[in-house]
Amino acid sequence: MDDFADLFIKLIEASRNHEHYRDVECINLIASEGLKSPAVKQALSLASDLEGRYAEGENDLEGHVKKRYYQGQKYMSLIENYSTDLMKKLFKCTWADVRLVSGTHANLATFKGLSTAAKNRKMVVTPLSCGAHISHDYAGLAGSVLGLENINHVYSIEEFNIDAEKSADVIRAAKPGIVTFGGSLFLFPHPVKELRAVAEEVGAYVAYDASHVLGLIAGGVFQDPFSEGVDIITSSTHKTFPGPQGGVILGNAKDARMEKAIKAIQFAIFPLSASNTHLGRLPALGVAALEMNLFGAELARQTVKNAQTAGQYLYEHGIKVLCEKKGFTRSHQIAVDVCDFGGGKKVAQDLEDANIIVNKNLLPYNNQNDRDNPSGLRIGFQDVTRRGFRESDIKHLCDLMISVIKGKRKPAEVKEDVIAFKKEFNHVKYGFQSVEEAINYLKKA
Ligand SMILES: Cc1ncc(COP(=O)(O)O)c(C=O)c1O
Repeated sequence: MDDFADLFIKLIEASRNHEHYRDVECINLIASEGLKSPAVKQALSLASDLEGRYAEGENDLEGHVKKRYYQGQKYMSLIENYSTDLMKKLFKCTWADVRLVSGTHANLATFKGLSTAAKNRKMVVTPLSCGAHISHDYAGLAGSVLGLENINHVYSIEEFNIDAEKSADVIRAAKPGIVTFGGSLFLFPHPVKELRAVAEEVGAYVAYDASHVLGLIAGGVFQDPFSEGVDIITSSTHKTFPGPQGGVILGNAKDARMEKAIKAIQFAIFPLSASNTHLGRLPALGVAALEMNLFGAELARQTVKNAQTAGQYLYEHGIKVLCEKKGFTRSHQIAVDVCDFGGGKKVAQDLEDANIIVNKNLLPYNNQNDRDNPSGLRIGFQDVTRRGFRESDIKHLCDLMISVIKGKRKPAEVKEDVIAFKKEFNHVKYGFQSVEEAINYLKKA
């Protein structure tokens, strides 16, 4: 066989193996990865033509298609408008933009748009070392691509949160155009309502990156950014929100100030940063919005309960889960310090060898330049929750993890137990098995 054929066959084989490995045989605890329902997957497969189309153009202040530069848009514009409206209804806001292909893209358009609208290049953000996403930081998108000047919120490592009082002083002194909340290592609601008035005082827009917690917000837990005074929410659509990979921006066009912001963000989407917008994900996004509308509250509550149960159980069994005094977490994630067991890199690899997939993670007090040697793990429970894990299942999973972390059993031996245990949880709950099932459910309702 020539090299080309050989490569192709290996590609298909690896793709098939991946599907079986991660979907069937592994327990997935990466905090940034969601789990799509069969109905969401079906909607993706129904959009194979749409997936290849273009819809460049402008939208109006309700997020609807206003002008398109391509022909053949008869149904495409309807699809974009309907999925936009489903997201607006779910998050009770007047404007949404679903053209973003990722959370990073949503941040790019928002930070560019808001800094333009505010005529101010300063942005106050959570320090990268304390859980912000690289796209918020001067070393990433915000600084190195958009040229924004970052000023850090003051962060309390003890509280694992932004120190509202001290950050108020920072905002007053810096007079930024944007104050940003939200993050990747995100255990407790950020003090939006405490700092909203201060941001207003200096004329800053308030942005909230909900990438990790969008599904929790949809389910009415964690925090409600809009009612706390956020102007714009940016997000991925595939973490706790269990949709297709993509991004979204949400807001309320309630006055001239917000209209100006939304128009600037829209310009930052098209023409500045998007040409094709991965339209094939839009029907699936709508299915996920429907599922979260119907089942999101129950899913979000159980997800947080499972994360808290894991925190408590691991802690009681001698694993240093952070923030014990605060109940470990109010989100889908916990942060664990495993320096006593060889550090995050070793433990994450041992767990992977047992088919339990977690992230190694730098903790705020680690040497931030030594990225390869973090003492922590970040563990997320949204995937297992959607597969039906309840508290007793979480404790059993923790027992398997503890036996690996403490070196009591060989990972290869635990792997067999993990594969057998996972077999009980290969049905996705809190959602629909097919698009037809969703339609029938709605007809009966
Ligand atoms: C807080 C936060 N914002 C943005 C992103 C980027 O999201 P995406 O991977 O959709 O670009 C992430 C990724 O995990 C994140 O944690």
